[in-house]
Amino acid sequence: MPETNYIPINTFMVKILKVSAPGKIILSGEHAVVYGFPAIATAVDKRITIDRNGKIDSDLPIGSGLGSSAAFAVATSAFEINNLDLDEINKRAYEIERVYHGSPSGLDNSTVTYGGFLWYKKESNGNKTIKKIYVKAKLPKFYLLNSGKPDESTKEMVEMVAERYKKERRYTLGIFRGIENVTKGFLEFLTGDVEHNLGELMSENERLLEGLGVVSDKAKNIIRTIEKNGGYAKISGAGGRKLGSGMILIYHRDKDKLERLFEGESTTVTPVRLGENGVKIETE
Ligand code: MEV
Repeated sequence: MPETNYIPINTFMVKILKVSAPGKIILSGEHAVVYGFPAIATAVDKRITIDRNGKIDSDLPIGSGLGSSAAFAVATSAFEINNLDLDEINKRAYEIERVYHGSPSGLDNSTVTYGGFLWYKKESNGNKTIKKIYVKAKLPKFYLLNSGKPDESTKEMVEMVAERYKKERRYTLGIFRGIENVTKGFLEFLTGDVEHNLGELMSENERLLEGLGVVSDKAKNIIRTIEKNGGYAKISGAGGRKLGSGMILIYHRDKDKLERLFEGESTTVTPVRLGENGVKIETE
């Protein structure tokens, strides 16, 4: 063997200086996912950036269903291990999420870690099926509108649903099964395998979440206004009952018309791109 001056690459291990992680939107399956039903979620083009000095830059409103806590947990985990081992980042981020949210499904941190569109399901043996969805459908433009920060935390909303599941098992399971059907519909839409009306899938999902009791009157009013004016909308994430229900995902063909509906109000319609990258190292 010739002598080589081989130096293991990690001798030069460079410290990561800046990391960013995206927010997330759940297309279908919030709450139901906690009970083993599938969900589809996606990373968005709004991110949190953290640098080594602890400086945080964020486009994600806190506690509004856009995954700010998961994005924070994922970005900090990447710093901790100082590399982009996604499975390890996801594992650590899940542990952080557990401290804050009780027993989260792991959907939020997985979406923020891996990015793109994810099919996510907790199997009965405790394993998690996480699959990237290969999107063939041409996606329309989507928008976000903040219905207001919920008064309740994600943990409280999950507990509220658990309470209902205990008392009204058949009703709640019926809702979860309905959500599962919509989730499968979204999968077929995204992969281009079966034609679906995207807007109707969103509306059906919204109705089921309202049936579950996780959408406030304020959010319902906003959504009815959008629907009466040719659009489709749903809350995304844990929701909220008393005040706002966090971010609303909107699909509307006419941006100007949509914007006019909320002119002069404190919330504004913002375009959002879905299917964006997960956690990444920033060089600048
Ligand atoms: C929150 O973004 C999603 C929920 O399904 C909770 C969870 O999955 O842990 C409500």
